[in-house]
Amino acid sequence: MIEELRAKIKTIQEKALQEIAALQNLQDWQNTKARILGQKGSLTQILKTLGGLSPAERPALGRLVNEVKREIERRLQDIQKTLEETKRRQVLKEKAVDVTLPGLALPQGRRHPIRRVMEEIEEIFLGMGFSIFEGPDVETDYYNFEALNFPKEHPARDMQDTFYIGLRTLRQGSGQATDHGLRTKEKEQLLLRTHTSPVQIRVMEKQKPPLYMIAPGTVYRHDDDVTHSPMFHQVEGLMVDTDITLGDLKGVLHHFCAAVFGTDREVRFRPSFFPFVEPGAEVDISCALCKKRGCRVCGGSGWLEILGAGMVHPAVFEHVKIDPKRYSGFAFGMGVERIAMLKYGIDDIRLFYEGDMRFLEQF
Ligand code: PHE
Repeated sequence: MIEELRAKIKTIQEKALQEIAALQNLQDWQNTKARILGQKGSLTQILKTLGGLSPAERPALGRLVNEVKREIERRLQDIQKTLEETKRRQVLKEKAVDVTLPGLALPQGRRHPIRRVMEEIEEIFLGMGFSIFEGPDVETDYYNFEALNFPKEHPARDMQDTFYIGLRTLRQGSGQATDHGLRTKEKEQLLLRTHTSPVQIRVMEKQKPPLYMIAPGTVYRHDDDVTHSPMFHQVEGLMVDTDITLGDLKGVLHHFCAAVFGTDREVRFRPSFFPFVEPGAEVDISCALCKKRGCRVCGGSGWLEILGAGMVHPAVFEHVKIDPKRYSGFAFGMGVERIAMLKYGIDDIRLFYEGDMRFLEQF
C-alpha cells in the first residue's frame, strides 16, 4: 500500500515536471496547474487519500507529498516568468513600428496654373525693378474709361462689353472724386473693370515719376467662348520717367517674351489703337507649332498676339497732373489666360475654371 502510493506520487511528480517543462503559453500553464494542484488535481487527490493511512505512515508520506508539491509550485513559478516574458516580447513585436518603411504620401495641393503664370510674370518684372500695385475690381466710369481717354461714345463702353452695376451718389465732403469733374450729389457710374489700366490712373494720381509698376488683377467682360471668359486676369505695366522712349518699351517686352516663352521665339510690334496710348501697338510672338508657316493654332498667320502696349497718351498725363513735356512713359497690358494657353498649349479657356483635377494636376 505504502510503496504503491510512493510509486504513484513519483509518477505524478515526473509527469507534472515533464508537462511543466513543455509549456508554451500562459493558457496551458493555467490548465496544467489546475490539473495538478487544483481541487480535483492529481496531487490534491493523493493528499486526500493520506487521511486513510495509519498515524505511523502518514507523516513520512505527508512530507513527501509536500516536497513534491513545493517543487511543482517552484517550477510552475519559474516557467510562468518565462512565459510572461515571451508574451510581453510577442506583444511588443506585434506593436512594433518599422521606421525604415516609406511614409504615407499626404495629398499635396498645388498652385492653379493661372496663379503660377501670374507669379512668373510678376517675378520677371520685379527682376527688372518694377513694383506691384493693385486696384479695386469695382471701378468707376472715370478710372476705367474717362481718365484713360475713352471718348464718351466709344464702343468699349457699350453694354455688350462692360458689366455695369449701378450708380453711386457722391457724398458731400467725402472728397470722393471731386476733382474728376463731378460735383457732390452727382451720380457716378459703377462697373466691373474691363481691364487693369485704371490702376495706372490710381497710382499716377498718388505717386509722381519715376514710376516702374505692374498691376496684376481680375477683369470682367461680357464675353464667353473657347478663348474668352467673362472673368479673366491681366497684368498691366507702366513705366514713367524722363526720356522714356519706344526703345525702352521694346527692350522691356523683348526681355519679357524671352523669359516667358524662350529665346527662340520671334517678337514683333504691330501698330494698333488704344485711346490711352499714342502710338499704340500689339505685340505678337511667332507660332511655335508651325514656325511661322501658318497653322490652325495661329489662324494661318504664323503669329500669336500676346499683349497691347504703347506710349502713354498726353491726355492721360493731364488727367493725373503729370507734365507731358517733362515726362514720358509706356504702358502695356496682357491677358494671363492667353499667355498660359500659349505657354502650355491649352485650347479651351474654360479648362481653367472647371476645377477638373485631371487638368489641374498636370501643373
Ligand atoms: N488695357 C488694354 C486691354 O485691355 C491693354 C493695354 C494696356 C494696351 C496698356 C495698351 C497699354 O486691351
